[in-house]
Amino acid sequence: MYRIAWLPGDGIGKDVLHAARVVLDALKLDAQYIPADIGWEFWCNEGDALPPRTIEILRASHCAFFGAITSKPKEEAEAELAPHLRGKGLVYRSPIVRLRQMFDLYVNLRPCKAYRGNPLNYRDDIHLVVFRENTEDLYAGVEFFPLSDNVRRALDESSSAMRAFQNVSSNEMAMTARIITQRGAERIIRRAFEYAQRHHFPTVTLVEKPNVLRETSGLMTRVARAVARDFPRIELWEANIDAMMMWLLKNPQQYGVLVTSNLFGDILSDLCAQLVGGLGFAASGNIGDTFAIFEPTHGSAPKYAGQNKVNPIATLLAAKLMLDWLGETALATRLENAIATVIAEGKVRTYDMGGTNTTLEMAEAVARAL
Ligand code: NAI
Ligand code: MG
Repeated sequence: MYRIAWLPGDGIGKDVLHAARVVLDALKLDAQYIPADIGWEFWCNEGDALPPRTIEILRASHCAFFGAITSKPKEEAEAELAPHLRGKGLVYRSPIVRLRQMFDLYVNLRPCKAYRGNPLNYRDDIHLVVFRENTEDLYAGVEFFPLSDNVRRALDESSSAMRAFQNVSSNEMAMTARIITQRGAERIIRRAFEYAQRHHFPTVTLVEKPNVLRETSGLMTRVARAVARDFPRIELWEANIDAMMMWLLKNPQQYGVLVTSNLFGDILSDLCAQLVGGLGFAASGNIGDTFAIFEPTHGSAPKYAGQNKVNPIATLLAAKLMLDWLGETALATRLENAIATVIAEGKVRTYDMGGTNTTLEMAEAVARAL
């Protein structure tokens, strides 16, 4: 029996995870679902959106299934803290970003497939799979404001490009470091090639910007070329992130597996998701070597919270990714086929698809189609 940590979180996270349970129960997955606390109310009342007891539950589980959380900017976060927690220097950090780092979930897998009959498809022949590096890059959390004297001095002494800022004081300068490691680049790119091989994609496209980000994107490019040598039947394509946004709008059907660093992947995967129906269809897996967390890509959409209104397909596709990862390939295929059938029939549609059905009605339709 699988132990699956169950984290609905905030807002529509609760609605869509309820829908996911309806479908997983219909599939009769042999699992125990362990509810765990995460989200804004725990920040407000306990000063931690990801309490230690939740981390313990995760550590004792095979994997986790997560809905969504509300995050707010620094000032608002501080203001909404319970009075007894204010002024203690508590700092809000996104729980999902923390989890990705804590469990070293270095792959963010985001398949984007156009299901036949989805009225929101940009084209009907799109099948993209984004591999976004999930722990490094501008999301590593190495940030400075103001720049401390030792950081400033080191930069001034080490880079002639700092001359452009010689008249700017450290108090008027913010900096986020883009850190890419050889190991980080190697493992995300290798996972992308392995996936392409297993699923018979002819190409892997590295999406970076090595002409400008000469060191970080340069490292990604060198590593990609080296890894590609181990996969002679798969062609490595290289594209710049900016041009890639245009190519994906022009000819998305020409691409397959895409691999990139954290921030570019964040942007790229939103575009890819929109090509196949938007946030109601976008699922992601945060995957490490021994643990994984599956989630819809969307957030807590406060204006729809508790209304049983949003599209649960993104979450059901996340459940499909979880079944794949657990090795329950037959159940994963059954679930995907059921989702595809409901979309193709077009009888049950949530508001984003132009229909009036509820979250639960969509889940029940998928459960019936199983
Ligand atoms: P959002 O993803 O929550 O919603 C944006 C809009 O997309 C919604 O208003 C709705 O029109 C549409 N939408 C989202 N999910 C949908 C679904 N399943 N079916 C149909 N339509 C859907 O993004 P927003 O409004 O920018 O952020 C709301 C909160 O969520 C913020 O506090 C933000 O920080 C947080 N957030 C959390 C994420 C996570 O938990 N991984 C990811 C993104 C945002
Ligand atoms: Mg995003």
